[in-house]
Amino acid sequence: MNPKHHVFVCMNQRPEGHPRGSCGSVGASSLYEAMMGEMEKRDLFGKIQVTGTFCMGPCDQGPVMVVYPEGVWYKGVKPEDVNDIFDQHLLNDKPVERLRLSM
Ligand code: FES
Repeated sequence: MNPKHHVFVCMNQRPEGHPRGSCGSVGASSLYEAMMGEMEKRDLFGKIQVTGTFCMGPCDQGPVMVVYPEGVWYKGVKPEDVNDIFDQHLLNDKPVERLRLSM
């Protein structure tokens, strides 16, 4: 298996009120489910890989994801953004500028 893109979605959950916040407390699981639902709907297993991770750093910008091999980061991603991420970036190599996080 050699996927064209590997997407890491931060799923880290910290307790309510934690000073650093977490992607898990601002909707990371719904985002992950939406990503996996789209993978299934578009039959992309083996072509694109989606992996849930622990903290990747920019906790106050969550939910965050990073797409490799380009190393493009996205912030504040909502389930309704998932279609654009697939249509524009994962299938057509054009990052979704409105969601980009500069690292
Ligand atoms: S909790 Fe998601 S980047 Fe830290």
